[in-house]
Amino acid sequence: MLDKINPTKTESWKKLKNLGSISDLKSLFKNDSNRSKKYSLSNDGLFVDFSKNLIDDKILDLLFNLSKECKLKDAINKQFDGENINETEDRAVLHTALRSFDKKSPFFKNIKQDREKIKNLSNNILNGNYLTSNGKRFTDVVNIGIGGSDLGPTMVVEALKYYKTNLNIHFISNVDGDHVTEVLKNLNPETTFFIIVSKTFTTQETISNALTVKDWFCKKLDEKDIQTHFAAVSTNLEAVKDFGINPDFVFPMYNFVGGRFSLWGTVGISISLAIGYENFEQLLRGANSMDFHFKNTPFEKNIPVILALISIWYNNFNNVESEAIIPYTEYLKYLPSYLQQAIMESNGKSVDRNGEKINYQTGNIIWGGSGTNAQHAFFQLIHQGTKLIPCDFIGFKKSLYGNTSHQNKLLSNFIGQTEALLNGKSLEEVKKELIMSGLTTKKIDEISPFKAFEGNKPSNTILFESLTPKSIGMLIAMYEHKIFVQGVIWNIFSFDQWGVELGKKLAAKLLTEINSGKLKSHDKSTESLLKNLRL
Ligand code: F6P
Repeated sequence: MLDKINPTKTESWKKLKNLGSISDLKSLFKNDSNRSKKYSLSNDGLFVDFSKNLIDDKILDLLFNLSKECKLKDAINKQFDGENINETEDRAVLHTALRSFDKKSPFFKNIKQDREKIKNLSNNILNGNYLTSNGKRFTDVVNIGIGGSDLGPTMVVEALKYYKTNLNIHFISNVDGDHVTEVLKNLNPETTFFIIVSKTFTTQETISNALTVKDWFCKKLDEKDIQTHFAAVSTNLEAVKDFGINPDFVFPMYNFVGGRFSLWGTVGISISLAIGYENFEQLLRGANSMDFHFKNTPFEKNIPVILALISIWYNNFNNVESEAIIPYTEYLKYLPSYLQQAIMESNGKSVDRNGEKINYQTGNIIWGGSGTNAQHAFFQLIHQGTKLIPCDFIGFKKSLYGNTSHQNKLLSNFIGQTEALLNGKSLEEVKKELIMSGLTTKKIDEISPFKAFEGNKPSNTILFESLTPKSIGMLIAMYEHKIFVQGVIWNIFSFDQWGVELGKKLAAKLLTEINSGKLKSHDKSTESLLKNLRL
């Protein structure tokens, strides 16, 4: 069990509250020529510059003390050792075990067996040893799942598209019938392999989609061909059997891995098919390298710990509500929505580990988009809006196809934006520029306030050599550990998600009413909405 320490009662929290914010980031750089070096870290090909944050040594020291007072080290050990730290579900939290290569790691035997099974299926399908029911090669794979059974694979398959095998991977998640129809309309059931991913095998969206796909499949092929064309990843073996899936194609999931942390194991079969097993293993090795760094590095040099603490500084002591994730590669366009689930489903909690209502801020709001597209969309608000929005800029030194001319432009924007956020542009600079352009003094006075940038806006720069399965593994694991650190300090349970249950139950009740046309009594707004549907 994790300790249950109210962070607001610690000495460090009280001191941090009394410190007051820093607003002049530019001066911090002027007064310390060593700042960027002092506030940067490297690990296994990853470079993180956190110098452009509204922090100084005093703040950082207090944040490190806060983590010590909240027994962070002890919590990390308990997580890796497999203690049941997910108390409300009485489960361990061992997604780290899914990417461990250490024989002594918990459940290593099972996990190794699963990897062998993933490898065999991937290799056999990819090299044509395993064929369709009509003896052809598979051309397409469809992953049917939602939430953690979809977002991780969707994001990683897109992120590692450069390493693509000859299989085309598709994802069906939404219960919106148009989604499944759109995906199926371009597919040939004869050459498609389906993976139904659902820990519970009861999730409305996934089961509805799986049954629709089964119907569509059986219109062209025989029901017995399901045995050749379908696999399932689940803990609900009974339901999987009832669906008609070949027991050899059933892959286990574990209660010690939450859906949003599950891409590293059997949920990642679509990833392995998309990029080949060797690359999938590199993804795991990248995450494992980050696990090693997180577990063994003193907090003062620990990348996920530092990123988490800085974010706590903004969230709890500077009234910051959101964080933007800006990857400078189109390959990572799904990273913000993946992290939305990982971060907001984990730390969007308002009851602490003692069961008490919380009176401080917890989970951040996560949003973002790929650079440079985002610059032409929401960057206006980050640069000149009234809200303080710390940004993570994620970049890669080399482009994958080696287009240097584009890469130089991309990197100029990547660095240029963080420079602009830091330094801004003073009224004087704006006026000087306008004088040069020949405007009248009256016009200059009128227009210049709108063209000035305050600057002093914080950002982290997260930089890898190139986009590889290993670097993506490291990046995701870095954020997973950041989530963990924040949850420990906020004294919440990060690994349950009771907040998604109520809506599910109400939707199930409403479905009965909608299907039967017999509406029960609801609040007036809901009643009028139901009438509006004219069902
Ligand atoms: O969104 C809630 C949730 O329980 C996620 O945590 C999970 O990843 C998703 O639903 C899907 O659940 P399942 O894998 O059981 O279908």
